[in-house]
Amino acid sequence: MADRAFRIRQAFDAASRYDEHAGLQRRVATGLADRIAGLPLAPRPRILEIGCGTGFLTEAAMPAIADGNWLVTDIAPAMVARCRTRIGEGRAVRFATLDGERPLPPEGVDPFDLICSSLAVQWFGDLAAGLSRLFALLAPGGWLAVTTLADGTFAEWRRAHAALGLAAGTPSYPMVEALRAIRLDGVAGMIEESRMMVRYDDAPAFLRALKGIGAGTPGPAHRPLAPGSMRAVMRRFEAGGCDASYHVATCLFRRPPAP
Ligand SMILES: C[S@@+](CC[C@H](N)C(=O)[O-])C[C@H]1O[C@@H](n2cnc3c(N)ncnc32)[C@H](O)[C@@H]1O
Repeated sequence: MADRAFRIRQAFDAASRYDEHAGLQRRVATGLADRIAGLPLAPRPRILEIGCGTGFLTEAAMPAIADGNWLVTDIAPAMVARCRTRIGEGRAVRFATLDGERPLPPEGVDPFDLICSSLAVQWFGDLAAGLSRLFALLAPGGWLAVTTLADGTFAEWRRAHAALGLAAGTPSYPMVEALRAIRLDGVAGMIEESRMMVRYDDAPAFLRALKGIGAGTPGPAHRPLAPGSMRAVMRRFEAGGCDASYHVATCLFRRPPAP
């Protein structure tokens, strides 16, 4: 496993109080579950979930797909365990540790009718290549349904850095136009956007929340700031009102049905 993927996994493994800090993630997962409930899925669909975390999407989507057969996965073993505790294992639900960016090769794997994921694929090193590998695991007519973060997420935090000539450690996220330009086996996705805002009490609360959900791993090229610079950024962020924007993209790709 690459060094960055290992650090991402460690941070999520350590996020034992994820649910306390993850109100936004829960809302996004519920929205994706509603969207999935409206998709024309095959009967008794085989479903692969990537980056299940503690199970917000799993729990919200399962009731609408009562006859589904689920393989629920995450790169972080402790997250898989938390999700298993929430959902419970059964004949139609299995759990596994899996790096969704490097899933099993399609040969030898029964294809899936739905591959879903909420707020996990933004951690992929190469989003388009990772989505392509997942798309290759779909049966004809199958859906890839993911939410991810787009440009503008944490804009206030990034602006607080930029105003001081500094670069933020939060990863940079793609423009929605770049998501719209992705083709998976020639197929374009339906990309839907929503914008949300979370207000924090102060800058430490924002940083604690990021760390609390395991999302504190900086972007690949980031060099940590000196303590004095970080304090200046935090004062700037607080002067701006302690808001954090989230620009969420829901991406739906369908493998063409068999003729
Ligand atoms: C912000 S949480 C979202 C969890 C859950 N889907 C939710 O909506 O609450 C991101 C999750 O993605 C997982 N993750 C990060 N990179 C991953 C990868 N390459 N493959 C699979 N899971 C990954 C993390 O371990 C974490 O559980």
